[in-house]
Amino acid sequence: MKIGIIGAGIVGKTLGKLIAKANHQVMISNSRGPQSLFSLPYYFPCEVGSIDETIDFGEIIILAIPFHAYTSLPKNLSTQHKIIIDVTNFYKERDGDIYNIDENNISSSEIIAKHLNSTHIIKTFNAIKMQDLENNSFLPTSSKKIALPIAGDNQIDKERVIILLNDLGLETVDVGSLAQGKRFERGTPIYCILHDKESLENYFYK
Ligand SMILES: NC(=O)c1ccc[n+]([C@@H]2O[C@H](COP(=O)([O-])OP(=O)(O)OC[C@H]3O[C@@H](n4cnc5c(N)ncnc54)[C@H](OP(=O)(O)O)[C@@H]3O)[C@@H](O)[C@H]2O)c1
Repeated sequence: MKIGIIGAGIVGKTLGKLIAKANHQVMISNSRGPQSLFSLPYYFPCEVGSIDETIDFGEIIILAIPFHAYTSLPKNLSTQHKIIIDVTNFYKERDGDIYNIDENNISSSEIIAKHLNSTHIIKTFNAIKMQDLENNSFLPTSSKKIALPIAGDNQIDKERVIILLNDLGLETVDVGSLAQGKRFERGTPIYCILHDKESLENYFYK
């Protein structure tokens, strides 16, 4: 698959490297332009581009930016009906006091979906620290694979993203709609705690 990544920080680089290693094609971008990323293809196989080029390139677009930066995303993300993986998390300390997500009781991904007017947002990768993912897709204390929760309103999109995660050696637990993504946001018991599929299913379904 062709994967476009917007954001070239810890998440963008870690996921880009893993996705390229799984033999998918990667283009990555940031707000400062491809010239600021010129050395990245020496680090792992990828192309660098502008945000618009990255959106054109990817069948799946990964948002690996600070949450507050979603307001700067171009609207052609939704007009092109791309599958968008939202990895972002809302941190008041970083993103400011602009949205009271707790009071509104909606997932941060729904705010992005509403802004982009897109029904193709899939929330995953947000509840794991990248250092837990970068070297191994297995739990440190067992031979079981790491499982990640996934949420989204479009089942066909979700299945494609699940295939991508499987290609990275990961398992998934489908938590349901994008609204259900709130169940694995910051402050929930499973946020950034490693689980295998069985223990994640127990958490969500039992
Ligand atoms: N770090 C983790 O382990 C982890 C795990 C799961 C989820 N997350 C979440 O994933 C997101 C990214 O985290 P991170 O740790 O990778 O952050 P980071 O290291 O600060 O990287 C953010 C990247 O986004 C780019 N960026 C900022 N504003 C942008 C904009 N308007 N358009 C395009 N690119 C923009 C930045 O580059 P420029 O400023 O040069 O544009 C930078 O490359 C956050 O929402 C975070 O909460 C992080």
